[in-house]
Amino acid sequence: MSEPLPSTVTIYEVGPRDGLQNEAAIVPVEAKAEFVRRLVAAGLPIVEATSFVHPTWVPQLADAAELMTMLGGAGKAMPVLVPNERGLDRALELGLEHIAIFGSATETFARKNLNRGLDDQFAMFEPTVTRARAAGLDVRAYVSMCFGDPWEGAVPIDQVVSVGKRLFDLGASQLSIGDTIGVGTVGHVKELIAGFDAAGMAPDHLAMHFHDTYGQALANAYSALEEGITTFDASAGGLGGCPYARSATGNLATEDLVWMLNGLGIETGVDLDAVVATSVWMAELLGRPSPSAVVRALAQSPA
Ligand code: HMG
Ligand code: MG
Repeated sequence: MSEPLPSTVTIYEVGPRDGLQNEAAIVPVEAKAEFVRRLVAAGLPIVEATSFVHPTWVPQLADAAELMTMLGGAGKAMPVLVPNERGLDRALELGLEHIAIFGSATETFARKNLNRGLDDQFAMFEPTVTRARAAGLDVRAYVSMCFGDPWEGAVPIDQVVSVGKRLFDLGASQLSIGDTIGVGTVGHVKELIAGFDAAGMAPDHLAMHFHDTYGQALANAYSALEEGITTFDASAGGLGGCPYARSATGNLATEDLVWMLNGLGIETGVDLDAVVATSVWMAELLGRPSPSAVVRALAQSPA
């Protein structure tokens, strides 16, 4: 049964990481720093800045250390993706305080994204999280392919819950449920949240990470909101995708989410006009318009 809607929602901004990791063009590091600063100035409370992954796997984010150095003290509070101990060492060298590991609910995607089997991924994450926690870092865990996988098709709910809970139990403070290829629909969202609840993971431990490939992301976010979820991942302008998952397109656009939440009277602390202006600026830099309907509408509306 649906809960009353929450009065506030936390938006976890992933544009600089999930967005830019998938761009064909390499964005100059100065522009990335400017992007992050503008998102923070627009009131986004959490901005995931980059990834400490293998630079040949994701060349778009090979400048992670340079970016975090450029962001200085403010960057320490920003989460970064870290898959393994090598990535953790790189984050620790810079004094960063928040990392995010990213596991897969399916065998095929674990191999394609992490070069590890489904079970072997835990051997990589376990020492990474243990060392990070011992060093006082906060750890978020992502689980990908929670609604469907381009190679394996439908992914059973109990499989997603089992992998997600195992990742969370390594020592994470939050589990982000990824619809990597955007195939989820509202009923499926409710079933998955109920599956986690039944396994002892209440909605306050979960975040939802929707990609908008099939145009379902906003409806799915509303469906999750009804189930008590209060953290949503989104990317400014709807940038995004995963280079190792064909058919993954942009994330739920931050602006689309803020527009809906504003309409519901739910507080986010985000200045919508400032995010739109940032996305318009980034779209010009990338040379293509934002896929977000809200960005397009507000960018065109008379002042
Ligand atoms: P591997 O090749 O198996 O790595 O890659 P390895 O452990 O065998 O090491 C090989 C070499 O890489 C070694 O160097 C390591 O030091 C080096 P050598 O000794 O040969 O000179 N190395 C590294 N260098 C820098 N940073 C590192 C690092 N790790 C190893 N962190 C690995 C395994 C996990 C590293 C690789 O598969 C990888 O980098 N994968 C990342 C893929 C990725 O970033 N995907 C996108 C993010 S996930 C996503 O977008 C989904 C999400 O948004 C949620 C959703 O939508 O569902 C989060
Ligand atoms: Mg993603």
